[in-house]
Amino acid sequence: MSYETLAREKAEALRRAGHARILAVESSCDETAMAVVEDGRVLKSSVIASQIDMHALYGGVVPEIASRMHVDALDPLLDQTLEQGGYTMDDIDAVGVTFGPGLVGALLTGVAWAKAFAYARQLPLIPVNHIEGHVSANYIASPELTPPFVCLVASGGHSHIVRVDDYGEYTILGGTTDDAAGEAFDKVARVLDIPYPGGPLLDKLAEDGDDHAYVFPKVVTHGAYDFSFSGLKTAVINQAHKLRQQGEEINAANFAASFRRAVVDSLAEKTVRACRDAGLKKVALAGGVASNRLLRREMQRRGEKAGLTVFMPPAILCTDNAAMIGSAAFYQLMRGHVADLTLNAVPSLGLIAE
Ligand code: KG4
Ligand code: ZN
Repeated sequence: MSYETLAREKAEALRRAGHARILAVESSCDETAMAVVEDGRVLKSSVIASQIDMHALYGGVVPEIASRMHVDALDPLLDQTLEQGGYTMDDIDAVGVTFGPGLVGALLTGVAWAKAFAYARQLPLIPVNHIEGHVSANYIASPELTPPFVCLVASGGHSHIVRVDDYGEYTILGGTTDDAAGEAFDKVARVLDIPYPGGPLLDKLAEDGDDHAYVFPKVVTHGAYDFSFSGLKTAVINQAHKLRQQGEEINAANFAASFRRAVVDSLAEKTVRACRDAGLKKVALAGGVASNRLLRREMQRRGEKAGLTVFMPPAILCTDNAAMIGSAAFYQLMRGHVADLTLNAVPSLGLIAE
């Protein structure tokens, strides 16, 4: 029997049974990650090989280095992931992999590895959208969470407010019209001489700062749930340059806190409004920026005030990981979405097919 036929039959059997133990692979940017997830909800093992130390030397992600490091990391990660869960390869039912969006070379390493694994083990191959993965981190963190709900997805490359209508079904309500939230954090961090990765370090620094110390313009808004960070980012960067030219010392903690406050207020306000207007009572956070301490506090405060239940994964499931990919893969499998060996990376993949 051909691989295609066998894999399709196995996928169909898993779908009918409603159970699957999935090995998930993530390599879209600067973390190589693998995980084993059962039935989309139960995390059995998760390993992340971060490349941060290497990219920090260059002040940002160097795509070619990222790809090479993924290639080196993938095989050892399989051993570690299986060992952590107490599994052998025979225990795996299917393999899920991020095929976009992300850096093309980085994505290709994971996709090629997952195809080889699926073919060697004669297992179904499930293509996963990285943004959908971020949303799905909530299914692992909160077993009681079921769609519909509103989710703010804020990462280094994406900032969207989406309505999760069902598993794998989304309506985009709004989002950034220019820079992603994480990108704005990273760029402002650079001006403050905060080393890469800027966002988390700026967040930490801001904890000790006064967020009224500097006055920055409000985040520009277009539609009801859209936001734009480029105006704020430019104003903040210009102000830093001006202060330096005038020989004034910048209080980095206060500067970081004032910038963080402007970004977080806009994200939290729009997300809560979108949820209320959609008539939904559940709101979730996802993506690297969802680990921001102020955003978490503000969403909790504003959400509770609006009578919403707020869901947020622990920080380790907000930034890139493969557990979230394993959860998203399960729900794709249950919807009959499997790939064949022609699967390719799609660097500019959107959350909704265009
Ligand atoms: O989701 P993620 O790990 O990768 C992408 O898919 O982009 O997000 C990374 C982004 C980076 O821009 C990083 O600076 C930002 O999330 N980030 C944060 C925090 N932790 C990560 N931004 C603000 N505060 C944080 N605590
Ligand atoms: Zn991500």
